[in-house]
Amino acid sequence: MTTQTETTDAGGVATSSESLTITDNRTGKTYEIPIEDETIRATELRKIKVKDDDFGLMTYDPAFMATASCRSSVTYIDGDNGILEYRGYPIEQLAEKSSYLEVAYLLIYGELPSSDQLAEWDHQITIHTFVHENVKEFMQGFRYDAHPMGMLLASVGALSTFYPEAADIKDAQSRYIQTIRLLAKMPTLAAFSYRHNRGMPYVYPDNDLGYAGNFLSMIYKVAELKYEPDPRLERALDILFILHADHEQNCSTSAVRSVGSSQVDPYSSVAAGVAALYGPLHGGANEAVLRMLQRIGSTDNVSDFIQGVKNGDERLMGFGHRVYKNFDPRAKIIKTAVDDVFEVTGKNPLLDIATELEKIALEDEYFISRKLYPNVDFYSGLIYEALGMPVEMFPVLFAIGRTSGWVAQWLEMVKDPEQKISRPRQIYTGARERTYVPIYER
Ligand code: CMC
Repeated sequence: MTTQTETTDAGGVATSSESLTITDNRTGKTYEIPIEDETIRATELRKIKVKDDDFGLMTYDPAFMATASCRSSVTYIDGDNGILEYRGYPIEQLAEKSSYLEVAYLLIYGELPSSDQLAEWDHQITIHTFVHENVKEFMQGFRYDAHPMGMLLASVGALSTFYPEAADIKDAQSRYIQTIRLLAKMPTLAAFSYRHNRGMPYVYPDNDLGYAGNFLSMIYKVAELKYEPDPRLERALDILFILHADHEQNCSTSAVRSVGSSQVDPYSSVAAGVAALYGPLHGGANEAVLRMLQRIGSTDNVSDFIQGVKNGDERLMGFGHRVYKNFDPRAKIIKTAVDDVFEVTGKNPLLDIATELEKIALEDEYFISRKLYPNVDFYSGLIYEALGMPVEMFPVLFAIGRTSGWVAQWLEMVKDPEQKISRPRQIYTGARERTYVPIYER
C-alpha cells in the first residue's frame, strides 16, 4: 500500500504525489488519477471525455501486457530476480520440504497446515479418488487413440453433471467438497485418459498409496497384485506437481477466473483451464524441447544449432520467459530432480545435449543481452520421458499439478467483492448502419 502526500502543481493546485496528472489535449482539461500499488484504475480514465455523453477514455491492452485483472495473495513472482513464492514461501523451500498436497492446502487456505489438518486433508482427498462408474463408461466411448488432454478436458467438465450441487458456488461447504473432489479425481481422470489412449484397462485408485504414487500405479500397473512405486520417482513426480501448482495470472488461470466469473460451477471453470493449457504456447513447450533435443541428435551439433538460433532460423525451446528475465527458479529445482530420476531410470542421452546447450547459451552474448535463461520446460520433458510418459501426457501432468492453483484462484475470485463477470471492451473496427440487401440482389 502507498501513502499519499500533497504537493502543488505549476498552476498552484494541490495534487497528491501518489497520482498521475493527465492533460487531455483535445479539451485542455487536466485530470488527477490516483496511483495505488503502482497501478491506476482503468475506470478512472472513463472520466476523460470530450462531450458529456461520451463513453470516456479506454485502455487498449491485447494479451493483458500491462493490465492487472485482480488482486491476489496466492502467488508472488519477481521475474527480474527469479523469485517465485506461494503464499510468501519460496518455491525452493516448498519443493525441498513439502508434499504436493501440503502445498495444495497452502495455496487454498493461505497457511501451511498443522499435522492434524494435513492428515485430515490427505485423508479426505484419498477417499475421494474414485469416480462414478458412469464416468469410466463415457470415457470408454472416446476414439481408441483419443488425445489424453482432450479426454481430461471433457471428463473434468462432465463432473458437474455428477455433482449438480456444485452450481451453488456461494455455499462454503459445497465449495469445500468440490475442491476435495477436483484434487482427488484429477489424477484418476488423467490416468484413465492415458490407459484409454494406450488400449489398456483402466486401473482403479489404490488408496494405500500417496498422491503421486497412486497416480503412477494407475498409469503403470499391469498384472501385478500391487504396484509399488519407486520412492525416488514418486518424490520426483510430487516435486513436479509442486513446481507446476500455481503461476499467478497465466493463460489457463485467467481462463478459470474468466469462465468462473460467470458463476458457473468449478468443474466447468477448471475445464476451461485445461483447455487453455492444451495449447502449445502454454502447456506444450516441454514437448517442443524434447523434439528439439531429438533433432539436434548429438552434442557435436550443438554449436551449429545455436548459430541457427542466433541467425533467427529457429528458437531455443525451453529458454526465455515473458515474466522471468533471470533463471526461472523452477528450472534450477527440476535440474536436481533430473539427477534423482536418472539414478533410477538410467541416463537419457538427450541430457548431455541439454546440458551442453545450456552451457553454451548461458555464455553467449545473444542470450545474455536478451536475458534468456532456461525456463521450467527445459528439463521437465526429460524427466517425464524418463518416467516413461509419452509426450501427449506432458500437458496432462501439468494440469494435475496446476489444479490446486486453479482452485485456489477460483476460490479467491468467488470471495472477492470487487470481482464481477469478466467482460472486456473492444475497439470496433467494422462497418456501421448498412442496409440489408436481399439474397437475390447480391
Ligand atoms: N530462442 C531464441 N531467441 C529468443 C527466445 C528463444 N527461446 N526467446 C526469446 N528470444 C529472443 C527474441 O527473438 C527477441 O529477440 P529480438 O529482440 O532480437 O527480436 C527477444 O529474445 C525477446 O523475445 P520475445 O519473443 O519478445 O519475448 P516474449 O516475452 O514475447 O516471449 C517466450 C517469451 C517464452 C514466448 C519466448 O521466450 C519463447 O518463445 N521461448 C521458447 C518457448 C518456451 O520455452 N516456452 C515456455 C515458456 S515457460 C512455460 C510457462 O511458464 O507456462
